[in-house]
Amino acid sequence: MKILFVCLGNICRSPIADGVMRHLVKVENLPWTIDSAGTESFHVGEAPHQHSQSVCLEKGIDISGLRARKFTHSDIDHFDRVYAMSADVFQEIKEISGKKYDPAKVELFLNELYPGQNLSVKDPWYGEREGYYEVFDQISLGCETILKKYRNKV
Ligand code: 4NP
Repeated sequence: MKILFVCLGNICRSPIADGVMRHLVKVENLPWTIDSAGTESFHVGEAPHQHSQSVCLEKGIDISGLRARKFTHSDIDHFDRVYAMSADVFQEIKEISGKKYDPAKVELFLNELYPGQNLSVKDPWYGEREGYYEVFDQISLGCETILKKYRNKV
């Protein structure tokens, strides 16, 4: 499995998903590829937001080595699953992907946890540190659900 998590800036939400999923597949010794990207280029090259980093580190997950990059249409070819962290990002993925867009690969992240509800992971960028804990918990549940779903299909 090759899984890509996508948010706007690739510094708050998708790096948490990237770190949590890498952690889970490492524990299970699965040969999966995990990555993350953003639909905007504001933060390209930057490390994850300090609150994303510290909330992950409190749970034993070090995401300090991740660097923001922009989502490109060739990501659709490279990955088996592309998860949009929110509805606006889902639309942007469609637009950036153009002819390469593949509805079988792209999904709203929270639809794995709450099928068909089209919910978004709230962007913690505009709020306080507490918001990052909420986002971490929601993302962890989602990643565990994805792991269970695909673990035996590889
Ligand atoms: P993210 O959060 O998409 O979860 O990384 C954001 C980070 C930066 C901005 C917006 C959202 N920004 O506008 O710079």
